[in-house]
Amino acid sequence: HTVHYHPGDGYLAWLQYRRPAAGGTGRYQEYNRIVAAGLDDTVLRTAADELAQGLKGITGREILVSETMAASPSIIIGTFGTGSLVDGFFSTEVSSAVKAEGYAIQTDSQTGSIVIGALTPAGVLYGVFHLLRIMGTGGSVRQLNILENPANQLRMINQWDNMDGSVERGYAGQSVFYENNRVTGNLEQIQDYARLLASTGINAITINNVNVHQTESRRLTDFLPDVTRLAAIFRSYAIKLFLSINYASTMEIGGLETADPLDPEVREWWRRAASAVYEAIPDFGGFLVKADSENRPGPFTYGRDHADGANMLAEALQPYGGIVIWRCFVYNCKQDWSDRGTDRARAAYDHFQPLDGRFMDNVILQIKNGPIDFQVREPVSPLLGAMPQTNQVIEFQIAQEYTGQQRHVCYLVPQWKEILDFDTQLQGEGTTVRRIVDGSVHGNPYSGFAAVSNIGNDSNWTGHLLAQANLYGYGRLSWNPGLSADEIAGEWITLTFGFATDQEPFQILLRTFMESWEIYESYTAPLGVGFMVNPDHHYGPNVDGYEYSMWGTYHFADCHGIGVDRTAATGTGYTAQYAQANMELYESLDSCPDDLLLFFHHVPYTHVLHSGKTVIQHIYDTHFEGAERAYGLLSDWKLMQGQVDEQAYSHVEARLREQAAHSNEWRDRINTYFFRKSGIPDQHGRTIY
Ligand code: GCU
Repeated sequence: HTVHYHPGDGYLAWLQYRRPAAGGTGRYQEYNRIVAAGLDDTVLRTAADELAQGLKGITGREILVSETMAASPSIIIGTFGTGSLVDGFFSTEVSSAVKAEGYAIQTDSQTGSIVIGALTPAGVLYGVFHLLRIMGTGGSVRQLNILENPANQLRMINQWDNMDGSVERGYAGQSVFYENNRVTGNLEQIQDYARLLASTGINAITINNVNVHQTESRRLTDFLPDVTRLAAIFRSYAIKLFLSINYASTMEIGGLETADPLDPEVREWWRRAASAVYEAIPDFGGFLVKADSENRPGPFTYGRDHADGANMLAEALQPYGGIVIWRCFVYNCKQDWSDRGTDRARAAYDHFQPLDGRFMDNVILQIKNGPIDFQVREPVSPLLGAMPQTNQVIEFQIAQEYTGQQRHVCYLVPQWKEILDFDTQLQGEGTTVRRIVDGSVHGNPYSGFAAVSNIGNDSNWTGHLLAQANLYGYGRLSWNPGLSADEIAGEWITLTFGFATDQEPFQILLRTFMESWEIYESYTAPLGVGFMVNPDHHYGPNVDGYEYSMWGTYHFADCHGIGVDRTAATGTGYTAQYAQANMELYESLDSCPDDLLLFFHHVPYTHVLHSGKTVIQHIYDTHFEGAERAYGLLSDWKLMQGQVDEQAYSHVEARLREQAAHSNEWRDRINTYFFRKSGIPDQHGRTIY
């Protein structure tokens, strides 16, 4: 392995495989034999290698791998089926309950051997990572009896990497994939990324930005050999490779004069393009498409709709089992700010919902979790679940574009959990987002999760070391949305730093994670109104940064009040996109939750919240408290000195220091702005400029 790292720089992330600390020493020591048949399969080989590498770290012993039964106790891994070494250990009840990517793990009571059985090599790999996670967190392996299937079929990562090495909304250095318009020479690092992803359950990746420009379009043609190399790396970790494509490739690189989806020549071009890709990469996943969005080309140019566009590509991919993932982030980005009738929040639903039933079976719509754009607080997109005959996946953003850009700590799993637990009420109570995206509500052939990655070539992958927990958490949640946010954070803490749950540093870190989203929200845009950031790069406070722009993200603050009236009665009518019960919940000032109040209503500063505070006092209080709590995170972290590696300590300390100072800037900008607009003083007489 040629990648060089220092233990404290975070490169190994949650795959440290250190020997268990206090109390755990010696627990797993006897497991130094692996039995694995079928090692000519690349994924099984990966599983055996990963297990060997992990066990070596954990036991401190040399690990023997054999293809035939070895002395007990050993760890026996393999797929079910004739001649398999694992079959005898599982009842048919267990083995038949294991689905495509699932696995069963059992400890044989007689011999103490641990057996991991699965239907597919991918399942074995996930089972191996599960076992290593148990050992890495100090769990008992004496009586394992585990059966797991992933809740979601598609568990995807979207890279927003450009071929010049930059990363759109990247906050962790340059791309690990590309430099100077080629794939980087450092394929080991890409492989290390693949293993990080696979260890959390990720099974699909798009390797390029959704904004596809000329050079990137050539991935389908002259860069195909590079893409093929990357596909091989990800294949060995059971991760399917997808490409973001330029909708207008026929014009950009194909020499045609149109990208009209109904034009026979255009269709033929795509059929040939698909055939070439599949010839090089027979298990290629398919295309991700951002069309008619933020100045990207799309079918609207030709008077066609998104079903026409998506189906054209779907038809080309269909013979090979490929899929088209079509993004619903479509809105008018040239809006007239003075026009209060247009509402960007409505756009995805308005564009796509009427097309339900028109998409081919191998099209999936990818829908951002909220109707705007990954703000710290948004309601759930009403499009999720609203197209029963259409495959849908939810899109999250692990990259912290609007949540501190990996300079502030903001553990996003609690936010994602809240979204997944939201009851859309589309088929009565209990129609949660979680059940919509796992496919169980409408029974669509495809469903799942996608998310924008937060990694780059910074030595710790994510810029902020603690931002690793978001990548880890996303993967874990995509596999099992039933896990809790603190369970996931706890796993990350123990796997990364080795602290046991009852140790003080564990508790400090857990508290930091679990409070971080709330803290970030409290000193930034209030009550669901969103934005208030500097234009373009989106970092730091600027209350009116987008107020008179064409982007459709406004707060409408004046001397009387603030907020966006999205009611059906007097506003943009956005509330009517929800099922009746939720529509009523948001429509009425009496029932609208405080944290989304300004997303749905325009109210006077003196409006009294359910909390009993006025809107203006709430703004002041949360901003003073939020900044204070950000300082609290820094002083908590100081207790970690000597508990974690010095390099990791000072890195996080520096980021938390920056966050604390920056939270003051946020506090003062927001408080001052609203004090000047409203003229209403803070009840507690604190300093407002
Ligand atoms: C956001 C982001 C863009 C990105 C876009 C998208 O608007 O700021 O950089 O391209 O989302 O999701 O397509």
